[in-house]
Amino acid sequence: MRVVIRIGGSVIASPPKPELIKRYAEIIRNLRAQGHELVIIVGGGAIARQFIQLAKQMSLKEPEQDEIAISVSRLFAQMMALKLGGLDWKTIPTSIDAVSKALKERGTVVMGGLKPGMTTDTVAALVASEINAQFIVKATDQDGVYTKDPRTYPDAVKLDALSFDELDSFLEEDKHKAGIHQILDPEAVRVLKKERIQTIIVNGLKPENIIAAINGKKVGTLIK
Ligand code: UTP
Repeated sequence: MRVVIRIGGSVIASPPKPELIKRYAEIIRNLRAQGHELVIIVGGGAIARQFIQLAKQMSLKEPEQDEIAISVSRLFAQMMALKLGGLDWKTIPTSIDAVSKALKERGTVVMGGLKPGMTTDTVAALVASEINAQFIVKATDQDGVYTKDPRTYPDAVKLDALSFDELDSFLEEDKHKAGIHQILDPEAVRVLKKERIQTIIVNGLKPENIIAAINGKKVGTLIK
């Protein structure tokens, strides 16, 4: 199967979790050995946002701040790539073309952000569309999509499945509900909906969830 795995900075980078990154590398190696083709896209999380703050204090412009955040995401991508393939894998692709090429050569690509003005969610959507991925697994720090932000509302209920239209209506209903808002950024949703790419949201703090999702087990929330 061809799958895009989007690992949140909230999972591996905030704070940095070396053991978990190692574990991910192991899981990805195993999935590859089973014949899957994988693009792993990691976010920069809180550290990226700290660097954005630094860049702001230097009066760097917004696209310049974004470039700094992209570098942070690539740094985490590089750590995982080195663990997977050693120094041969040290170069992190910086364009969609480079991703396609590396995927053809190696069957596994690890990357971070691509260009200013988006998030790694949108990068995941664009890459998935380009390589015709069967679906995206997004590893986050929640068990899936909830009716409300589970961190604030104890009565929030986890949804097993929902459509992109339903997700849209959540976003429209209350733009300020952090839990929902952060599930996927709106631009990513637009691309996924247009290209009809399914996305499974799972808790990435338990990386076995990624294996379960790829093996078709019921886990997290399926958005289709
Ligand atoms: P991330 O995608 O790393 O977001 O982008 P995040 O929500 O902090 O990470 P997760 O969900 O925990 O993984 C962080 C910032 O980096 C810039 C943007 O400023 C974005 O808000 N960025 C990232 C880009 O400009 N382009 C990219 O392709 C990726």
